[in-house]
Amino acid sequence: MRKVRKAVIPVAGLGTRFLPATKAMPKEMLTIVDRPVVQYAVDEAYEAGIEHIVFVTGRNKAIIEDYFDAQPELLDTLAQSGKHEQRMALDRLLPQPGATSFTRQQAPLGLGHAVWCARDIVGDEPFALLLPDMVSYGKRGCLAGAMDLYDSVGGNVVTVEQCDPLETNRYGIVGRGRAAGSGFQITEMVEKPAPSVAPSNYYINGRYILQPEIFDILGNQERGAGNEIQLTDAMVRLSQSQPFHGQLFEGRMFDCGSKEGFIQANVAFALARNDIRNSVLDPIRELLSYHDAKSDAA
Ligand code: G1P
Repeated sequence: MRKVRKAVIPVAGLGTRFLPATKAMPKEMLTIVDRPVVQYAVDEAYEAGIEHIVFVTGRNKAIIEDYFDAQPELLDTLAQSGKHEQRMALDRLLPQPGATSFTRQQAPLGLGHAVWCARDIVGDEPFALLLPDMVSYGKRGCLAGAMDLYDSVGGNVVTVEQCDPLETNRYGIVGRGRAAGSGFQITEMVEKPAPSVAPSNYYINGRYILQPEIFDILGNQERGAGNEIQLTDAMVRLSQSQPFHGQLFEGRMFDCGSKEGFIQANVAFALARNDIRNSVLDPIRELLSYHDAKSDAA
């Protein structure tokens, strides 16, 4: 079985759900506690054993490339002012030289098109795909679990969670077949189906391991839902010749492309940090009792 060495992270989206914050700032650079959203996807990829990350970026997103570069002046200043811990923390986050690539999606034609833009850099090998809006929270990152399943069954893997059965039209939905390894066989996949026709409420939560044959399919994929080139439609075609397996993620994803998910992620990650847990939690408790008292009085 061919090893998965590369991960694709699409970061070209316009972030319209987050305006006006994203008017001049990429949504992937909004911070959860003190790290940009995109850093969480990169950390998750490294945890799963990924060696090289391909960012599919776009106009007005050059700051993402700068973020993953060295900042010698900043490191020198931190060293001179004795802030060695901060300096080392930045050093640890710096990707290995040559272990990132950046390519641009020139038009907003959908996720399928963004993935296709990475075809030359990925080449003829299986790759992981992480949608950075979806931030993985749990003991172990979602992609690491997907990689375990891939190592036992090969082929293509997507990770899923359950959604509200009335919200299937927001996601890619899979049909669940027989158990296989730590996951299950996928019987069907459909992008954003109405609840009445959805095969289940298991939704694709933004982590994939795909074989390179997906690129040829994406190259001649017609537009689907939302008039965009849909990755899910290309996966349906690939599933006619290759197996697809699903893995239920045991943690949870925060959809940080939405305001609610982004705020929930900030609270969750802050509460998971010993250095700030109490100074975040206590005021939240106070705010809750303030609001409860106000609604009792109303
Ligand atoms: C994309 C995928 C969809 C998946 C979702 C997860 O949709 O097309 O299958 O369930 O990401 O976030 P988008 O959010 O780009 O509409």
